[in-house]
Amino acid sequence: KTKIIIDTDPGVDDALAIAFAALHPDLELLGLTTVFGNVSVDQSTVNAGYLVDLLNIKHVPVAKGEAVPSVQAPHGFPDFVHGKNGFGDIEVSYPSDFKPHALSAADFIIKTIHEHPNEVVLVPIGPLTNIALALKKDPSIAHKVKEVVIMGGAAHEKGNVSPAAEANIWNDPHAAQIVFEAPWKIVMVGLDVTWKTIMPDEPMARIAEKSPVVGGFLKKICEFYANFYRNVAGFDGFSVHDPATVMYVTNPELFTTEQGQIEVVQSGAGAGKTFFAPKGQIYAEDYWSKRDNVHVCLAVDKTGVLTLIENILS
Ligand code: BDR
Ligand code: CA
Repeated sequence: KTKIIIDTDPGVDDALAIAFAALHPDLELLGLTTVFGNVSVDQSTVNAGYLVDLLNIKHVPVAKGEAVPSVQAPHGFPDFVHGKNGFGDIEVSYPSDFKPHALSAADFIIKTIHEHPNEVVLVPIGPLTNIALALKKDPSIAHKVKEVVIMGGAAHEKGNVSPAAEANIWNDPHAAQIVFEAPWKIVMVGLDVTWKTIMPDEPMARIAEKSPVVGGFLKKICEFYANFYRNVAGFDGFSVHDPATVMYVTNPELFTTEQGQIEVVQSGAGAGKTFFAPKGQIYAEDYWSKRDNVHVCLAVDKTGVLTLIENILS
């Protein structure tokens, strides 16, 4: 089994990603670490607590992380995408016995990586604040992690929160730059592929029918999220950003990647933009041949992704 930590801001598609990881027979979920993003960190933490209860994985620790970006002032929360509660504003009865782990998200990440050297895949599907903080506290984790598979950024695509930026990177571009320039292998699952993995209504209805409790909950929270994607983004369904990222860990053959360097624009109109320089490309400025640690997903087998998520969630 592949050991993973998911750093998350649940969030509708985060919930799908966490359910996928919990139900996949080849993954061992070592912990969930929470961050602000789609909702406040208080809300994302209780949402993670709700999910471990729903998924019957209460042995999986939930470690609470950062409430605000590392440098810039926080942006508002996207309640028009995920609802005010992050679960599409459906009514949720939270378990009364949930307690977050004693360690902070960053400390939990550091400890867990050292406990399983070169085995842990870190899967951040929210702003990169906790990951940058963990690196700052203990830079040695960069040499001890197996790989980092990130939902975020856009190499050739336009952004989703601005013409330039994808939401997770835009929420903390300073943290993102620290994470992209650390000496570890990163896979970037960004809008280049997640714009292409659009889930229509029918599979969610089938999932809910086969698995009324978990699937039924996921179908309900997806309705709000799907409405946003239909009415505002003009898609025929919703984007499975975060689940696609976990799917890279189990099924990398569904993705085509190109290796190179990512640099993040830190502020101004382009804040959060992820510039990509492919390996081997010669530029006038030496700045651009410094690293090739990022494998950017540029193409995806859409049918493969949608079939896989339906199979696992059913
Ligand atoms: C990312 O931003 C959040 O809204 C989603 O959960 C996903 O992680 C997509 O840009
Ligand atoms: Ca997310």
